[in-house]
Amino acid sequence: MTSLEKQMNRRGALRTLAFASVCGGACGAGPGRWFLSGVQAGETAVFRMRFDDFSELKNSYGSVRLRVPGIPSQINQIVVTRMPGNQFYAVSAKCTHNGVAVNPFKKEVGLRCAAHGSQFEPNGKVVKSPARSSLKAYTTTYNGSDAVSVEFPNLGYSVATELVEVGAGGRVKLQFETLSGMDYSVQVRSAVNGGDSSTAKFSLTPDGSLNKTSVAGNGKTMSLYIAPTQDAGFATIRRQ
Ligand code: FES
Repeated sequence: MTSLEKQMNRRGALRTLAFASVCGGACGAGPGRWFLSGVQAGETAVFRMRFDDFSELKNSYGSVRLRVPGIPSQINQIVVTRMPGNQFYAVSAKCTHNGVAVNPFKKEVGLRCAAHGSQFEPNGKVVKSPARSSLKAYTTTYNGSDAVSVEFPNLGYSVATELVEVGAGGRVKLQFETLSGMDYSVQVRSAVNGGDSSTAKFSLTPDGSLNKTSVAGNGKTMSLYIAPTQDAGFATIRRQ
């Protein structure tokens, strides 16, 4: 893990990310009732930038473009700019005209896209076409001294589940997008807002040994398999 990735403040990392399975309809024995798909939940990731690491941000009008580790690639790069009065702005670098990365702030031209000359203010507002819409902006928080944090809300988590029959029993397949540099585990419990919660052991193949309790994300879709021990319940993917 790089030092930048370590700076990711995993705020709420132990918070529930997604309810993946639920008992629905007639609840009999066996794991056949563990189903539900396409559950979505969001979480805010906070990227802390120390000025020792990003010296451009030590002074007004300083600006830096970077790719944030651990953030899905479609967000691409961001441009973080410091303006007078300790105003900090973070915006997606992806030009709204045709997707080329805009350059860091310069007094004469703002954030300029070299492809066709679109220009934007540090807060992302478009001021010169051909781009017509503003750059996506992210919330920033200055700590008053030596760092600014950028928030990436609702990373669009989704989990799909399906029942997988294995031998005499059944397993539930949990499928979800992962981020590199994050670890994932599964918690199960009997009720949405209560019941005993326990860490589920899982396998990475439908009929593999249920001996894993965490797995490293790789930026791709991952499938885990658990064997429910009760008639019905909820499974939660945790990222940390
Ligand atoms: S892609 Fe940026 S101006 Fe065309």
